[in-house]
Amino acid sequence: TTVLVVNGPNLGRLGVRQPDVYGKQDFEELVRLCNEWGAQLGLDVDVRQTDDEAVMVGWMHEAADNANPVVMNPAAFTHYSYALADAAHMVGDAGLPLMEVHISNPSARDEFRKRSVISPVATGTITGMGLFGYKLALEAVAHLVRG
Ligand code: DQA
Repeated sequence: TTVLVVNGPNLGRLGVRQPDVYGKQDFEELVRLCNEWGAQLGLDVDVRQTDDEAVMVGWMHEAADNANPVVMNPAAFTHYSYALADAAHMVGDAGLPLMEVHISNPSARDEFRKRSVISPVATGTITGMGLFGYKLALEAVAHLVRG
């Protein structure tokens, strides 16, 4: 099983962007960690990042067509992208787990971060655990695909 670990806008700037909120580890470190955690769980992982909503939507179509479970940090798309929510819905319709991850706890931050349009179509959501949240999400995927 190959899990798509997809990351939305500005997450390529990890380590530089608000390190007090998102930590000091950069995106390359996240890629390394996800590969390590996946290997421990017997999962192949394909870690990606884009600032482009259309690209992110396309990755959901790819996941649905190729039967890839998804770990998604939708970043700011979380709060307003109905296009991404519809695409994520198709992943669920294909019978695949889709775990939503946020590095920070958006509920404890700005008012606009309190709503996720992705959560209603996600299998589950992990927030506030830093990069460790991706490990928890990969464990959840391993659990869900093995039954
Ligand atoms: C985020 C939280 C979002 O509100 C924000 O727009 C991000 C990152 C997180 O990982 O905590 O870009 O998804």
